[in-house]
Amino acid sequence: MTVRDWIREATERFASAGFESPRLEADMLAAHTLGVERVWLVTHPEAEFPELAGETLVQRRLRHEPLAYILGWREFYGRRFLVRPGVLIPRQDTETLIEAALPYCHSRSVLDIGTGSGCIAITLALESSASVTAVDLSDVALDVARQNAVELGAHLEIVRSDLFERLGGRMFDLIVSNPPYIADSEKLMPDVVDYEPLIALFSGPTGLEVYERIASESGAYLNPGGLVLVEIGYTQAGAVSELFKREGWVHEETIKDMSGNDRVMRFSRAS
Ligand SMILES: C[S@@+](CC[C@H](N)C(=O)[O-])C[C@H]1O[C@@H](n2cnc3c(N)ncnc32)[C@H](O)[C@@H]1O
Repeated sequence: MTVRDWIREATERFASAGFESPRLEADMLAAHTLGVERVWLVTHPEAEFPELAGETLVQRRLRHEPLAYILGWREFYGRRFLVRPGVLIPRQDTETLIEAALPYCHSRSVLDIGTGSGCIAITLALESSASVTAVDLSDVALDVARQNAVELGAHLEIVRSDLFERLGGRMFDLIVSNPPYIADSEKLMPDVVDYEPLIALFSGPTGLEVYERIASESGAYLNPGGLVLVEIGYTQAGAVSELFKREGWVHEETIKDMSGNDRVMRFSRAS
């Protein structure tokens, strides 16, 4: 079978399964199977395709295993981040947090809470002159974040810590976080809930539990004039604003993502 025919067939099967971008996914799997870049497929449509190897990947995808876990990477802010089961796949929406944080990063000390693959911490370290510290509770996440830092040539400190627990007397100018923010009762797509780490998704009965801890504990780790920037679920702006205000924070701004949903909130300390 040729590359062209294999891609056509895989695209049809993904379309019948209701996938949003069937051709893109077929292309990505074809390129991955052949160990080439996507553009090679366009220039070599008549090349022989290893059907058996490709079929195994199609079957995995049809069982809703996320494409990023099959490929072993996901692009974030223009770079490839390694991912594997046990670490959250970076989302495009989280690039909103990068855009919101970068103006406050230069020559500052930044803490990323719940770093996962390291996508936020590493991007901020590479895109600015900030000195960055990243924490997570998950050993898999810490391992993947360290691997990504090495692969991408980023210099940052990566620490195993339950929020601030292991940070002693450290102080920061900026605290950023994309914490787990889904309520335990919420139903998610099988691609997500059957494969991605629950510790990265669910925070407890309300979905606000980690924000509550960040709001009450961050003040002790922030230099004067410092800021907290958090990613939120698109319905959570009101509740997150309220709980930060209760802890003495000033809500400065809510920033929307590319789809027009509330996505990032910025808070400063009341003086
Ligand atoms: C929503 S994921 C975000 C991952 C990554 N920052 C991103 O944006 O793709 C939340 C992360 O927080 C970590 N986490 C959950 N509870 C934590 C805690 N109490 N202390 C530190 N990290 C925690 C999870 O292991 C997970 O990696």
